[in-house]
Amino acid sequence: MLSLFYELLTKIELKVKIMDNFSEDEENVTNILRGMENIYVDTTSISLVDGQEGKLYYRGINVAELVAHSTFEETSWLLLNGNLPTNSELTSFKLELKTLQHTHDKIFRIISEFPLSSSPLLLLQFCLSALSSLENADNYLGQTGMERFIKVIAQTPVIVSAAYRHSLGRPFLEPRSDLGFVENFMYMFSGNFPTKKQAKCLETALVLLMDHGFNTSTFAARTVASTGANLYAVISAAAGALSGPLHGGAGEHVIQLLAEVRQFNDVKKYVHDLLSSGGKIVGMGHRIYKTSDPRAEIFKDLLFRITPEGEKNSDYLLLCQIEQEARNYFRSREKPIYSNVDFWSGAVYKRLGILPTMYSSILAVARVVGWCAHILELSEDNRLYRPRSIYKGKINQPFIPLELRGF
Ligand code: COA
Repeated sequence: MLSLFYELLTKIELKVKIMDNFSEDEENVTNILRGMENIYVDTTSISLVDGQEGKLYYRGINVAELVAHSTFEETSWLLLNGNLPTNSELTSFKLELKTLQHTHDKIFRIISEFPLSSSPLLLLQFCLSALSSLENADNYLGQTGMERFIKVIAQTPVIVSAAYRHSLGRPFLEPRSDLGFVENFMYMFSGNFPTKKQAKCLETALVLLMDHGFNTSTFAARTVASTGANLYAVISAAAGALSGPLHGGAGEHVIQLLAEVRQFNDVKKYVHDLLSSGGKIVGMGHRIYKTSDPRAEIFKDLLFRITPEGEKNSDYLLLCQIEQEARNYFRSREKPIYSNVDFWSGAVYKRLGILPTMYSSILAVARVVGWCAHILELSEDNRLYRPRSIYKGKINQPFIPLELRGF
């Protein structure tokens, strides 16, 4: 009986074979741009990544200027509001960041339940999802007011610091309201009060990393935000996107690269062997920059300045050698590949005594400001993000009952 049924199914399959390759509007699609390379999906006035000139602007101001003159708080305000704050606006923004930084008690309990090996960034993603329910967050579309955005920006360093300290088996530290944003962040994860120089170093990093056009995590944030999901769900999705080694996870892998190159003890051969076997140098290459990444240059200069003069075999010198060898290799193949921001950032954090597991979380503390600015921008004129794909699979396939599928 079953075999008769199967025979029938085969006949049906033969009948429909004639149209089993579905082709959806294919003739109208001239070019699929995989990875969405060079696709414009929306407009933005938050940041401009000028890949030809190697420049980055936030709200029209060159990021190099901001690094030199602006603080974390001022730059955040700029991204969120479109202009630099006045004195009184800045004072009340700083106060709000302090008032709203205290997170739910349950968040600390949740973190303490996880294995010590958990990534602080992935714990952030998890805690943000938990906050959706704990804070009773609602659809953000149509809501006005900045408070919930400031709250998520203020809570992110508290959560990642607790997650980092948990990974070290150390007790959590409550945020302090007598410190500025950057000093407080450093205190919360390290337990030490930073020097002015150390705080300036991390502030430079945070300002540099706040926004970067439609990078993958920002695009993820905008995509989820376009559905009307609540703010915590949106930021949680963006944090997940940031965790990948092709995006925010590259910095910690550069520290691994440094260790491997040191062990190998021949920079030229290491780089040549890796590249000629089709491998990638982590921290090099960029989808948009066809010249050097301006953030990489600032980080490189910062690393040079914080590396003691005359230090032999420093990370700075080794990275310069790796970069040089890779550039020679790429030049001979006419590939415009330069070091990106992550090539240098990890070594800067390492100088500050921060362990690699924390690097992508530092990026999250900065980038959450950009994500919030993008969500705000989108909410002014939202349209659901919903691209299409060309279907290349079969159609009209018969359903074969389980008992006929063999073992
Ligand atoms: N080392 C060696 N070759 C690299 C490279 C790298 N770091 N980055 C790109 N390339 C090469 C690719 O092998 C490819 O060569 P091919 O055309 O001969 O196949 C070409 O350059 C294009 O690379 P592709 O990965 O397709 O470009 P992309 O725009 O999709 O990728 C990155 C951008 C950032 C994902 C890519 O450069 C990369 O993987 N870099 C390392 C990870 C990293 O540093 N991420 C942090 C980004 S801020």
